[in-house]
Amino acid sequence: MTLSSAVIGLLVALATAQQPQYPPAFPLQPSLASAYNNAPSVLPNILDSSAPNAQVVCSGYKASNVQQSSSGIQADLTLAGTACNVYGNDIKDLVLSVRYQSQSRLAVSITPKYLAPHNESLYILNERFTPLPGAEDGCSNTTSDLAFSWSNNPTFQFMVSRVGSGETIFSTYGKKIVFEDQFLELVTSMVPDYNVYGLAESFHSFRLGTNYTQTFWNAYNLDNDQLPDVNGHSTHPVYLETRYGNGSSTSHGVYARNAHGQEWLLREDSITYRTIGGSFDFYFLSGPTPKEVISQYQVGIVNTPIMQSYWSLGFHQCRWGYLNWTNLRDVVELYAEQGIQLEGIMNDLDYLNLNRIFTNNANYPVGEGKEFLDWLHARGQYYLPILDPNVYAPDPTNASDTYAPYDRGVELEVFIRNGNNSLYYGMEWNGFSVWPDFSVPQAQQFWTEQFVEYRKKLAFDGFWLDVSDPTSWCTGSCGQYQRSLNPVHVPFALPGDPNTSIAVDFRYPEMFNITNATEAAAASASRASQMSAYPSMTLAPSPVLRRTLATPGVRNINFPPYAINNFLPGHSLLKQVIAPNATHLDGPYNSTEYELHNLYGHLSGNATYNALVEVYEGKRPWFIARSTFAGSGSFAGHWGGDTNSDWGDMYFGISQALQFSIVGIPYFGVETCGFNGNSDMELCTRWMQLSAWFPMYRNHNNRNTIAQEAYRWSTTAESTRRIMNIRYSLLPYTYTLFHKANKAGETVLRALAWEFPDDASLKAIDNQFMSGPALLVTPVLAPLATTVQGVFPGVAAGTIWYDWYTLQKVDVVAGENKTMSAPIEHQPIAVRGGYIIPIQKAGNTTAMSRKSPWSLLIALDKDGKASGELYLDDGINIVQNATKNVEIEFSKGMLSTKVAGDFQDGIPLANITIAGASALPKDISLHIDGAACETAVVEVKTGGDVTYITGLEGVTTGGAWQNDLTLKLVY
Ligand code: GLC
Repeated sequence: MTLSSAVIGLLVALATAQQPQYPPAFPLQPSLASAYNNAPSVLPNILDSSAPNAQVVCSGYKASNVQQSSSGIQADLTLAGTACNVYGNDIKDLVLSVRYQSQSRLAVSITPKYLAPHNESLYILNERFTPLPGAEDGCSNTTSDLAFSWSNNPTFQFMVSRVGSGETIFSTYGKKIVFEDQFLELVTSMVPDYNVYGLAESFHSFRLGTNYTQTFWNAYNLDNDQLPDVNGHSTHPVYLETRYGNGSSTSHGVYARNAHGQEWLLREDSITYRTIGGSFDFYFLSGPTPKEVISQYQVGIVNTPIMQSYWSLGFHQCRWGYLNWTNLRDVVELYAEQGIQLEGIMNDLDYLNLNRIFTNNANYPVGEGKEFLDWLHARGQYYLPILDPNVYAPDPTNASDTYAPYDRGVELEVFIRNGNNSLYYGMEWNGFSVWPDFSVPQAQQFWTEQFVEYRKKLAFDGFWLDVSDPTSWCTGSCGQYQRSLNPVHVPFALPGDPNTSIAVDFRYPEMFNITNATEAAAASASRASQMSAYPSMTLAPSPVLRRTLATPGVRNINFPPYAINNFLPGHSLLKQVIAPNATHLDGPYNSTEYELHNLYGHLSGNATYNALVEVYEGKRPWFIARSTFAGSGSFAGHWGGDTNSDWGDMYFGISQALQFSIVGIPYFGVETCGFNGNSDMELCTRWMQLSAWFPMYRNHNNRNTIAQEAYRWSTTAESTRRIMNIRYSLLPYTYTLFHKANKAGETVLRALAWEFPDDASLKAIDNQFMSGPALLVTPVLAPLATTVQGVFPGVAAGTIWYDWYTLQKVDVVAGENKTMSAPIEHQPIAVRGGYIIPIQKAGNTTAMSRKSPWSLLIALDKDGKASGELYLDDGINIVQNATKNVEIEFSKGMLSTKVAGDFQDGIPLANITIAGASALPKDISLHIDGAACETAVVEVKTGGDVTYITGLEGVTTGGAWQNDLTLKLVY
């Protein structure tokens, strides 16, 4: 035995000896569990029609002392009658503040008039956490698109309308303002059959509809993460509304800057907004197009999305269950052998020692990891492990159970506490844990130090920050005295745990019983026998509503009087999260999780981003977070949670992606092929096709399911090669979209309704979408399909669409829901006439693709014109030495480019393809920077309404975008 194998053997033995087992060795958490079970199960939330209606029983407010100026209005609001104290304690004296902040943005806030300094954080969301927009210079009621009006009759009510048309966009007229310490309510009237979008994150159709409740309390559902219509991992209290009429539309936006648990009740003729704390802090955006609303929100309020690295747009493979470095290497090699692009390989918890962050277990030794990373990096590929925010809390009675990050965190005083100043212990994958309080600066120092230290061991290339909702498996604190049991297993079976009902997942997608009848029968029999041998050990949801009565003068933060419709058992705010009464370190406020829960993902994400910037020395970090808040897009991407391997989950991913376009997180993707349950050839093929358009493109699944890498089924492999070649060839186009998102709050994935805002028939379309302005995708979203239906907007107004593959005009009439052929390897894609798309042939990696010669795809509109643009930089650094912007025009048979900026890639322009140009030119003339070029090597051909110009690389040897260029086709 060599020394190193002896050491490895010892480490394996140690790791095995310490490995926590299921069932857990400790009783499920005592203190709060009983409190929870005994909580009075009275009255209402939205599910309880017998609940007192605050609009009926509360008094509303009267405005007085109104001071009007050109920049806005200030007034006192005083409770108009007796306190109703319906779900908390009424606040008698409030202040109204109306500010014309920019031409397109009006801010309306209502806050308590008297706030003790230490009480402020209960009501005011600190601008350290998420931007607080201020007024631009020179804004006044005379420059604003929006007007504010109000009345005291019968109680204070207000309205926001458009100055020009008088259209009311928000109105509380006829309704009362309710402002209590633990309950705020405001109701706006809505137009009939209104169209509202956003309020991310939900698993719901894109158009939210008029009978829908969006709850915000960031949460994780281990059993079935992707439940439709419930609170998700993120909180983005902003919506976009579009109104159609007379062949056009107007859109506006509403952002409510409040991080508390809350819900938005979309009903037939109104939206009711309820929070369990904070203040009313509204921002109204005038649009009037959907794109303008989105940009006004991102540029003016939460900041535009972070500029991604070029390589982030490659494809990434993950799996919970990659056992060691060799396993990862095999996956990387198999992708290469199959000719499928792979940019990054990801690790789930498997690499960690007992799931403790910043460690490696014996199967993933650091030495071998270094070799693996050298090998991987030399191939131009990246390594992206998981990171969880919770820190293992070692057994204090066991001197050998040490964990340096815990000690350091204690030393720096970074961990969230109980009200009594003891550490708050919760439960995560690794056992009892503590959580850094990212609301205070020393937590950043702690986090960055850990990154720096760990990166000295392993040159990881980014992190995906998981369970940052944040998740904890005790109900309330796990108490102070159980750490001696560490390491322990979470109090339920984990996927893949032996001898449990979820040791192996036998579920398959719909129609698997038809496409693979024999295997489906075997799986179903195995599942039946497994279920009888091991009855389910997962947490069962309780249908009981938990609500407490308001006690005068008392705030009840673990069981607030108003129960939001959190989907977790009993709708409890305590379940599976850090408890609301856990206390932060932000003296003098000592904020509780009650106020900051929905910000944990955002703040931990921001700290992670900052730490990554530090260790990458100014390079753009690769970073996605599972939980986000308004503003997270300026540093993070996001994935949509644990999808199930079924067709419905695949479909909802489109709506989710569009929601995240609105809120400024374009670097979004889903768990392609499905996370929970087994995938199959057909689902995985179609999902690889769909996700090829999502900026964050990864395939990830659970460890109790079958492997689902894109090479597992030959049909999936073939289809993936085709779609990935398209994705990679479009990298310059997508990267340019990211640049424009970063600079101007534009979007990458788009709803058809945003590109064609006057067409009311598009308002609910979420089975098709656009990538940028030029590409229309019609994915296949159903099993056993060989055709798919889709619409082609704008045809009535003369828009021409070209089939991506043939470049032939799509034969479609206005309003037609066209049936297209879509055999299993094929996904219909259309190019919009009027656009020019810069292309580079796909290489194995994004870096290789960037070395391919340039091509231009010109799709002519009905007037024979098209335009496009291109942004280039080194793709790596946050601060760029040189960039390049190229404007590309085609008109009257002439292509011209205008370049600005010094970035040079030195890659020639090889081909130009013009869709919609059938006549063969007699000649061409080419000028670079005004000087005529020899064109003998250039070849021009036509066929099927397409003109192909090739051989240009012999002329543009200095680089396609070195100088301005004109190319004239002489007919
Ligand atoms: C969570 C994550 C999932 C991960 C798992 C284990 O469920 O959402 O992506 O695989 O935890 O770390």
